[in-house]
Amino acid sequence: MKYKALASHVFMNNRNNFSKAMSSNAIALLCSNDVQYTNADDQMGFAQNNDLFYLTGIDQEESSLLLYPDAAKKENKAILFIRKTDEHIKVWEGEKITKEEASDISGISRIEWAEDFEKILQSVAFEADAFYLGHNEHIKRATRELETRQDRLIAWCKKQYPLHEYKRAAKLTRGLRQIKSTEEVDMIQKAATISIEGFKRVLSKVKPGIKEYELEAELSYVFLKNGAQRHAFKPIVASGKNACALHYNDNDDSCLDGDMILMDFGVCYGNYNSDTTRCFPVNGRFSDRQKQVYQAVLNCLKEGSKLLKPGVFPEMYEAQMATLVETELIHLGLLTQADVADQDPEKPLYKKYFMHGTAHHIGLDVHDVGLYSRALETGMVLTCEPGIYIPEEGIGCRLENDYLISDNGAINLTAHMPIEIAEIEKIMS
Ligand code: GLY
Ligand code: MN
Ligand code: MN
Repeated sequence: MKYKALASHVFMNNRNNFSKAMSSNAIALLCSNDVQYTNADDQMGFAQNNDLFYLTGIDQEESSLLLYPDAAKKENKAILFIRKTDEHIKVWEGEKITKEEASDISGISRIEWAEDFEKILQSVAFEADAFYLGHNEHIKRATRELETRQDRLIAWCKKQYPLHEYKRAAKLTRGLRQIKSTEEVDMIQKAATISIEGFKRVLSKVKPGIKEYELEAELSYVFLKNGAQRHAFKPIVASGKNACALHYNDNDDSCLDGDMILMDFGVCYGNYNSDTTRCFPVNGRFSDRQKQVYQAVLNCLKEGSKLLKPGVFPEMYEAQMATLVETELIHLGLLTQADVADQDPEKPLYKKYFMHGTAHHIGLDVHDVGLYSRALETGMVLTCEPGIYIPEEGIGCRLENDYLISDNGAINLTAHMPIEIAEIEKIMS
């Protein structure tokens, strides 16, 4: 394993909380994601199902959890199924987690081979009244057209046990995962710390004519060298007007003298993510206009992040952030006070230059699960990411930090990533 794993008590605690939230006499079944293949047998990679990881710490394909807190027999309360391994499999496929290792990682004492899942489930299903099954209910879920391993488990289970009651595991995990334990915050901090090092390396390499993908390569170097599993998402390295396309990630342009680069990037470390955005001048000096726009966005970030505190509803926060950006757009001469006073409240004018939300939960998912109708609470971790995009001037600017909500306000987990104009120019000089 590349990363330092969390202690098993974290997952035991997560299972306890999940079990308490389950209705009585129910079985929860959670399973891994599929490995994604290219064309033949080469892998695009594997990303664990985050709910299964949250409850077990197991980061291997073809694993499942059976959780039955009210089982009559103690040995049936929690059963972890993993891929069978033996000396022969080891020769052909390499090391897989052993039963002992699976038990150490998860804190679950009963570990079984995946091939025995159906038989063992059959032995306990008749006692239970209901199943909690995992499903991807994320508001941004991009797998609508794909049949996932969870989808297959749901179909199979409903066919085998049509008269049990069915419930949603995701409804419970989305509530629990929103509040991070100290250990989880440490993992996000570790991801953020690697991001900070990556950004500093990029600042030392950038020069006119360099390709956007060369800067992506500098990030990849630092990430891999520090034990990150992968980029948290495909990084955006967008120079000049490319920065005005919010999801630009071709990263194949040349960085031109006089342009500013927007880089939105994150690290996935031990399955926990960071998500940060910085902007910097290709030639090391911001132009006057770039400075104005940058400073406007930085003002919004500084003021907006102060709104991230317990009791605040995300909707209220976003409305206040929109007002902050609107005020800056007036200062920049992009809107007038009179136009804003006259605007249709249903179609506010700021949306021409600022068209996205500015705070999302972050954790096991970059856009982490959670309800946005729930007020902020201590232990939540969110991004703050205001931006201003002016395609006609070839300037797009977004600044993004990650914040832990605490009783005393927001704690910036990315505080050491250079952000002040003078600081960035000094490093680049
Ligand atoms: N990089 C994705 C986001 O900022 O939300
Ligand atoms: Mn981002
Ligand atoms: Mn973000």
